[in-house]
Amino acid sequence: METHARQRPGLSLVVLISGSGSNLQALIDGQLAGDLPIDIRAVVSNRADAFGLERARRADLTTRVLDHRDFSSRAAYDAELAPLIQDFAPELVILAGFMRILTPTFVARFHGRMFNIHPSLLPKFPGLHTHQRAIDSGEREHGATVHFVTEQLDGGPAVLQARVPVLPGDDAETLAARVLQQEHLIYPLAIRWFAAGRLRLANDGTPLLDGNALHTPVQFNQL
Ligand code: GAR
Repeated sequence: METHARQRPGLSLVVLISGSGSNLQALIDGQLAGDLPIDIRAVVSNRADAFGLERARRADLTTRVLDHRDFSSRAAYDAELAPLIQDFAPELVILAGFMRILTPTFVARFHGRMFNIHPSLLPKFPGLHTHQRAIDSGEREHGATVHFVTEQLDGGPAVLQARVPVLPGDDAETLAARVLQQEHLIYPLAIRWFAAGRLRLANDGTPLLDGNALHTPVQFNQL
């Protein structure tokens, strides 16, 4: 007879990175702390020198590098990336600072089971240099958004947003650091919701949280 409760295996993930991997670290830390039920099957980077790979190794995670410079086209790269991910049979694919535009074919393959985190209050400032652009346009608030990935660059349905103030004297670096702190809170939370079966993408493309349509993202600061 079993004397202890059987542990449910965590939600299987593949995490894609290109750089520092601090969002990956937040997931690793959450799992180690016992409050994020995930099983990171692999960390994949398009750059061999991404520091996130070092974080993954320190946490004893499987790593793979697929260097985009070895491919002649975006389609060729994604055609190799998709089966590489699929070999790990993840329930959810996590883009964590993966700085690549994905082809529609790739996105379709992981429809409803791929998240991205973007450092702006989407739909404001899709694309690059979000912090500088927020400062330049005189925003008083900035932040980060977790969204399901669709073909639209940084445009998929948003599920969770965190806001921070833009302070006098901020430069892109100080603002990015303030936003990143929030990213490390909201990404694990959205994944926890997905793992618990509370968050999913409906057939019509609307995200549902506890069965309720999210026409606007949940505001983390108001939880
Ligand atoms: C994060 O700020 C993330 O939101 C951003 O890259 C950074 C990665 O940091 N992602 C994008 O800009 C995607 N469009 P990290 O490597 O330390 O997690």
